[in-house]
Amino acid sequence: MKQDVELADRVAPDREAWRTPGRETDPPATETYVQRFTMPVEFPVVFTQDLFDPSNPALADVASRLERDKRHRLFVVLDDGVAKAMPDLADQVAAYVNHHGDRLELLALDLAPGGEAIKNQAGAVEGLLQRMLELAVDRHSYVVAIGGGALLDLVGYAAGICHRGLRLIRVPTTVLAQNDSGVGVKNGANAFGVKNFVGTFAPPFAVLNDFAFIDSLEWRDKIAGMAEAVKVALIRDAGYFNWLEANAAALTAFEVDAMRHMIKRCAELHLQHIGSSGDPFEQGSARPLDYGHWSAHKLEGLSGHELRHGEAVAIGMALDARYAVLAGMLAAAEGERICRLLENLGFTLWHPSLEMTAANGELAVLDGLREFQEHLGGELTITLIAAIGRGVEVHSIDGGHMLTALDWLRDRARPK
Ligand SMILES: NC(=O)c1ccc[n+]([C@@H]2O[C@H](COP(=O)([O-])OP(=O)(O)OC[C@H]3O[C@@H](n4cnc5c(N)ncnc54)[C@H](O)[C@@H]3O)[C@@H](O)[C@H]2O)c1
Ligand SMILES: [Zn+2]
Repeated sequence: MKQDVELADRVAPDREAWRTPGRETDPPATETYVQRFTMPVEFPVVFTQDLFDPSNPALADVASRLERDKRHRLFVVLDDGVAKAMPDLADQVAAYVNHHGDRLELLALDLAPGGEAIKNQAGAVEGLLQRMLELAVDRHSYVVAIGGGALLDLVGYAAGICHRGLRLIRVPTTVLAQNDSGVGVKNGANAFGVKNFVGTFAPPFAVLNDFAFIDSLEWRDKIAGMAEAVKVALIRDAGYFNWLEANAAALTAFEVDAMRHMIKRCAELHLQHIGSSGDPFEQGSARPLDYGHWSAHKLEGLSGHELRHGEAVAIGMALDARYAVLAGMLAAAEGERICRLLENLGFTLWHPSLEMTAANGELAVLDGLREFQEHLGGELTITLIAAIGRGVEVHSIDGGHMLTALDWLRDRARPK
């Protein structure tokens, strides 16, 4: 019989290994076919302005990029925080689809809560799946998620499990979602009190970054996403770090050109990393893009999500920078530059949740190390900074140095 799938290997049983003293029979006949294939992943990440202006072809173009001559069905889920800040947006989306009626059809536009609340909300995924069922959203329809990183994560997760994967178009509306979370391949929700306990690795169909959304963000959300820019600069690109330092004043004044460069370069570095690291779905134990995140994820929860993801990451990076100095891995002056840049961008490098204790009397934040390892599996692997622009992986953390680093952060934040 001809084998349909490519036959990669036939693994013969190891007869000698099978034979043990007193057991002289042959091993049972076994044949193993090794299935092997790769699938190319390709999705456009578009940077644009005024996405829902009818004269902007970006959305209609990406929706029809695989099948030109048909009307593409869209189920739009809109972050209610965005809807509040831009009360005309829902009408603009409907008018846009109407204008491009030869190529697009709006099945529904639903509002959903924005922010971490939606990732914590029991029943949020089921509610979306129910709507997908009612609207008969199929694998050739599009789920268009418009919102911050939390809403994109949650809607992306629901889209990823419905019919084993629907096409997802992300329209990120925060700095963090445009420069980091929205351009990646991860989706998820929090469950049983654990951040991102459920989720999928599922690349989006397209990402449409509209700079106009940034204008309507609250001050703290414009700042929070800059933490991810500092992060990726620290592990990948010293030149970009220098640029962030030189442009910190322009960034805190939200000057348009500076903001655009900060977002684009950060997104580009994330895309490059995911595309070239050889481990886009994090099968290994390392997560280099998550510098400063082991404590950040824990602090988000400990603070009852009072801390935004980016705010917690800023604290986490400062903590790990000081730790690296104490561990003799990073020059003290470089550690100082990292903290100073974060402060100049407007971050507060301390939060009372750093002092919360767990039931065993230890600092609760330190449990973040175990949870980080548990999430990834394998050996504990934490990315630290050996020099600005150069991340390194370590497999153990010295508790004494970490406590000293925490003390140092507390003293630094104390009003002088
Ligand atoms: N999937 C990934 O790879 C990845 C990576 C990093 C972070 N994340 C996740 O992203 C989430 C954080 O995302 P975030 O920082 O974008 O914040 P967010 O999604 O929590 O949004 C913050 C607030 O801003 C509002 N908002 C969003 N866009 C707005 C706009 N244009 N104008 C006014 N208000 C607006 C939201 O309604 C919300 O209240 C976390 O859950 C984090 O875990 C995911
Ligand atoms: Zn992050």
